[in-house]
Amino acid sequence: MSDSLQDRVTAALARIRNPRLENDLLSAGMIRDLMVETDGRIAFTFLLAREDPATLVREARNAVKALDGVNPDGVKITVVDPAGPAKSSHGPPAPVPQSAGSVPAPTPTEFPKLGRVIAVSSGKGGVGKSTVAANLAIALVHLGHRVGVMDADVYGPNIPRMFGIFEKPPVTGGKMQPIEAHGVKLMSLGFLIDRDAPAIWRGPIIMKIIQQFLRDVNWGDLDYFIVDMPPGTGDAQLSLVQSIQVAGAVIVTTPQEMAVGDALRGAKMFEKVNVPVFGIVENMSGFTDPETGKHWNLFSEGGGARLSAEIGAPLLAKIPLQPDLAELADHGQPIIIASPTSPAAVALRQAAVTLHQSAAKRSVALPILQG
Ligand SMILES: Nc1ncnc2c1ncn2[C@@H]1O[C@H](COP(=O)(O)OP(=O)(O)OP(=O)(O)O)[C@@H](O)[C@H]1O
Ligand SMILES: [Mg+2]
Repeated sequence: MSDSLQDRVTAALARIRNPRLENDLLSAGMIRDLMVETDGRIAFTFLLAREDPATLVREARNAVKALDGVNPDGVKITVVDPAGPAKSSHGPPAPVPQSAGSVPAPTPTEFPKLGRVIAVSSGKGGVGKSTVAANLAIALVHLGHRVGVMDADVYGPNIPRMFGIFEKPPVTGGKMQPIEAHGVKLMSLGFLIDRDAPAIWRGPIIMKIIQQFLRDVNWGDLDYFIVDMPPGTGDAQLSLVQSIQVAGAVIVTTPQEMAVGDALRGAKMFEKVNVPVFGIVENMSGFTDPETGKHWNLFSEGGGARLSAEIGAPLLAKIPLQPDLAELADHGQPIIIASPTSPAAVALRQAAVTLHQSAAKRSVALPILQG
């Protein structure tokens, strides 16, 4: 009952299994240097071998963050390849460029040709960031904009599957060419590594990956550059805002209170580094029967509206649950293409229109118009 936070953290990590080793993370010796501070900050080193699924890190992070008494913004995991350059398993791990706890002094570069950079983010996993990013991008193309999508989720890149693209980007003139689908230019780590290969690209080098995607990809001239973020408020978010001038963030939440709390943390993180929140998208917001138009709220209601009021950003849209959305997305068919008149597609198109209005209000002019 009265287990210390340290005990509860170790117990949570001991519940996660590494299928390769048929053992839990703790017994397998994958967790080192665990530090549990009295103010709820947690830090540890995660020894992740190349053969191990990178998603274990996310699982561990989520399990620790979900514990009572843990400061979700203060969970710092340093991922180290036991066979890699960090020689001593006892010595300090390779430093992560920035920890999620400290606010950096960003020195982002401007990439005027990329247009408005919009980060699609949330504090929580599985709320529909990639779905929203992909469909918003296509909807913006349909509105006449030139759009790129950068998949910044290096642990579980979803964009290739959502667009049904698995080819390797060609390289010409020393630059990678983005892959185009449904009029959107795409780049993802998923194009570059085998689907089932362990992602050896870990948190500590996420900064490098993002910078390479910005500099070494021939994006051409764009109006919107949508970035699909991994869940959380960690290194990917900080690396992005340090690498490029982000125009604004779109925060995705579900209607439930829990997800709103996570989303609020996600939104605050952007505010801390002076990136405005352009809007909130409430996803999985009840179910609308396409035949009758009747709407059911399956979860508690109004999360998006609450979050919108809390941070003073518009609610761009409420996207209902769409029974066939996941199946279609798994087959490279974004809902806006596969079922353009479905309630979810209608809401996503509306989100794109409102996002464009919200973004246009905030910035003076589109830099790309300078030619
Ligand atoms: N409105 C919706 N109706 C039905 N299914 C949905 C809806 N939105 C998303 N999904 C499904 O929910 C799952 C999670 O969505 P998605 O991958 O977009 O979330 P995410 O926030 O990007 O997740 P992660 O944090 O893992 O990157 C997917 O299978 C997706 O197809
Ligand atoms: Mg995703």
